[in-house]
Amino acid sequence: MLNDPVEPIEPPEDSIMIGTGKGGVGKSTIAAHLAGHSAAEGLRTLLVCVTSQDDDDLGIKRFNRGIQPDGPSVLDGQGIYRAISERTALKPIREVRPNLDVVPGGAAVGELVQLLMHRMMAEGVGVALTLARSLAPIAPWYDRIVFDSAPENDSLEQLAAGAARRLVVPTRSDDSSISGMKRIARNFQAVRRQVNPSLRVAGAFLYASNPTATSMHSEVKDDIRAVLGTSTPILSKVVGYREKPARNARKKGLLFSEYAEMLPTSARSYDVAAGRAKVADVVPDAIVGLADDMRELNNEILLYCGRAN
Ligand SMILES: Nc1ncnc2c1ncn2[C@@H]1O[C@H](COP(=O)(O)OP(=O)(O)OP(=O)(O)O)[C@@H](O)[C@H]1O
Ligand SMILES: [Mg+2]
Repeated sequence: MLNDPVEPIEPPEDSIMIGTGKGGVGKSTIAAHLAGHSAAEGLRTLLVCVTSQDDDDLGIKRFNRGIQPDGPSVLDGQGIYRAISERTALKPIREVRPNLDVVPGGAAVGELVQLLMHRMMAEGVGVALTLARSLAPIAPWYDRIVFDSAPENDSLEQLAAGAARRLVVPTRSDDSSISGMKRIARNFQAVRRQVNPSLRVAGAFLYASNPTATSMHSEVKDDIRAVLGTSTPILSKVVGYREKPARNARKKGLLFSEYAEMLPTSARSYDVAAGRAKVADVVPDAIVGLADDMRELNNEILLYCGRAN
């Protein structure tokens, strides 16, 4: 069947997708922190979570942060689902932090896959612009828009790629994360060629690794370029692997910098030993290094996004 030519839609000027083909690499953590970092710098920022996992890094659901829009719930991915299925504007949760609005992900985003496949048969590749169209009416409210993306799902990855101007690709060092990047490379090429010619790879980087393993880092750099292309810019900042503070911060719905601010007044392990506090009340010292690493990574992501053309 022949389809009508796709009517292009220009992505917002400052719109960044965090995407990589593999699950569990750190996309949601990085997307939430990049959005939080931008908002803290005073930019009106929107985070759109095109993912069926709702990790709730910002504590929207668990701690009821932000102002819900009027009408039915947009939690658990229902807002994105409704906007895509009914072809209406996205309705963000406002002021999750000062200057930061969020369209949360969740299980309902996974239900879009079938709908998108069905529409693809009838409407062709233009389906990848559905999110871009639902974003367009509200995009002018924002200085920067950040997309978190779904792992291991082509149609959801293409939906985010269809709405963004820059793609930033994190990876871990293991072979399956590296080869997982083939998926994002393929989807990037397809989306750029067919519906969103403005899309550029701003850079790729190794995430959550031992910072002293420099020879391994340079091997990973070669691996990344072998998959994404020899001219792919590689960011130099490698955020350290620090599982405990990363996990605790997410559980508390706090960004790393926010969690680090609690350290000076935190309970200590001797308080736990004396029965005065619970283990969960002790903020790990390693949060300071993790927060610093993440701030440096965010600055470098923004630098590379600015350079990509
Ligand atoms: N610097 C870090 N060191 C160690 N663990 C981390 C670090 N940053 C994030 N994590 C943890 O890694 C896990 C995966 O992170 P995250 O959920 O951000 O990945 P993802 O790519 O979005 O996953 P998915 O593909 O399932 O959506 C989480 O448990 C998170 O808390
Ligand atoms: Mg995720």
